[in-house]
Amino acid sequence: MVRTVAALPEFYLAAARHHADAVVVVGLAASGWLACRSHAARHGAARELSSAACGIAFAAAAAGAALASRFLPLPTGIEPALEASLLLSRATLLGMTALLCAVAFLAANRSALLRAELRDRAEAERRLQHAKAAADEASRAKGDFLAVMSHEIRTPLNAVMGFANLLRESPLDDIQRSHVATIIAEGARLGALMNDILDLSKIEKGSLTLECVPFAPAEIAQDVLRLFGPRAAQRAVELRLEESDLSDLVVNGDPLRFRQILVNLVDNALKFTPRGSVTIALAWTKPSKPGGLGGLRTAVRDTGIGIEREKIAGLFQMFTQADSSTTRRYGGTGLGLAICRRLAALMGGEISVRSEPGQGSEFAVALPFRAEAAAAEPVVRLRMPATVPVRTAPVFGKRLA
Ligand SMILES: Nc1ncnc2c1ncn2[C@@H]1O[C@H](COP(=O)(O)OP(=O)(O)OP(=O)(O)O)[C@@H](O)[C@H]1O
Ligand SMILES: [Mg+2]
Repeated sequence: MVRTVAALPEFYLAAARHHADAVVVVGLAASGWLACRSHAARHGAARELSSAACGIAFAAAAAGAALASRFLPLPTGIEPALEASLLLSRATLLGMTALLCAVAFLAANRSALLRAELRDRAEAERRLQHAKAAADEASRAKGDFLAVMSHEIRTPLNAVMGFANLLRESPLDDIQRSHVATIIAEGARLGALMNDILDLSKIEKGSLTLECVPFAPAEIAQDVLRLFGPRAAQRAVELRLEESDLSDLVVNGDPLRFRQILVNLVDNALKFTPRGSVTIALAWTKPSKPGGLGGLRTAVRDTGIGIEREKIAGLFQMFTQADSSTTRRYGGTGLGLAICRRLAALMGGEISVRSEPGQGSEFAVALPFRAEAAAAEPVVRLRMPATVPVRTAPVFGKRLA
């Protein structure tokens, strides 16, 4: 033991005699506190650093130093063995005090950083919620504006169309007749656009409610075929229906919206198919248990211009067309597929596309329906009004009767 004490550096012994080691511990505690504060401030956690915890840690250090000085002094001229044991006890007490104090400061600092992080996250979440509420509000305002505008435009448009139709029936020369035909065709296009915008704003606002009545999908497909028949014949495109014996199938759902999807898809298929065929294919997957939901897959296949792979994903966004020249060459505004996707989603289904440039495309809608037990008659039947000018304004056919 004596040898160990002799091996201790002389300056520590001297320092301990003058209580400099205790002063150093108190000084270290004070600098630890300052370091803690500046570290927390650098990380934006000054407010979260607990002064009470730091104060207690500092007080503990001061108490340890006071205890060491009071009960473990090192007067000169005492027995070397006693001196050694006093020195060891003093060093242990001060060392433990310094260690405890360091741990307390570290813990206070860490918890301040954690609390600051939590505060930042809560703040960010609050800001996000505000931004979302503002965006929702803006989107609602935009939707309302669109709905009101399209409504307001539709009213005078109906009058214009009515008088244009009356004018067509009056005695006109060839040039006047062609002018009136242009007014009617363009008016019908504008009407279809207004209707699309109205539908979209209704869907976006969540105010579009679906019906649930029994209807026969095959009948609706036939009806759509009849609607587009003249236009297909005019372009020498074959239009056909492929249904694996679904004539008896009656499902519960919204026939108008189902028809709207089909009309949009067939309208596109015909528009982008200069030659060849357009096929509507219906397939029914029975429910796994009686009374459950079955799956109706309605595909519209064409042998048209097709779509490049990288363009496909964007087609379902509003006002998006595969090509910037599409509007000029084929007309349209890029709303049809956006409506189809939203309607399909509203009905609990989805729409998918397969396409090969130059080969053709297939747009398929998969919708869940509950099948009706084979109904003898009361099935919803849809008819377009006899006056729909399919030939002169094919886009008008997109709209429901
Ligand atoms: N069958 C198809 N073959 C090739 N391209 C297609 C087909 N269907 C859709 N597209 C592409 O997807 C784009 C978006 O179709 P969508 O029906 O949304 O708009 P649109 O037909 O151009 O205009 P709108 O339907 O509003 O009259 C089309 O412009 C076209 O580029
Ligand atoms: Mg379209």
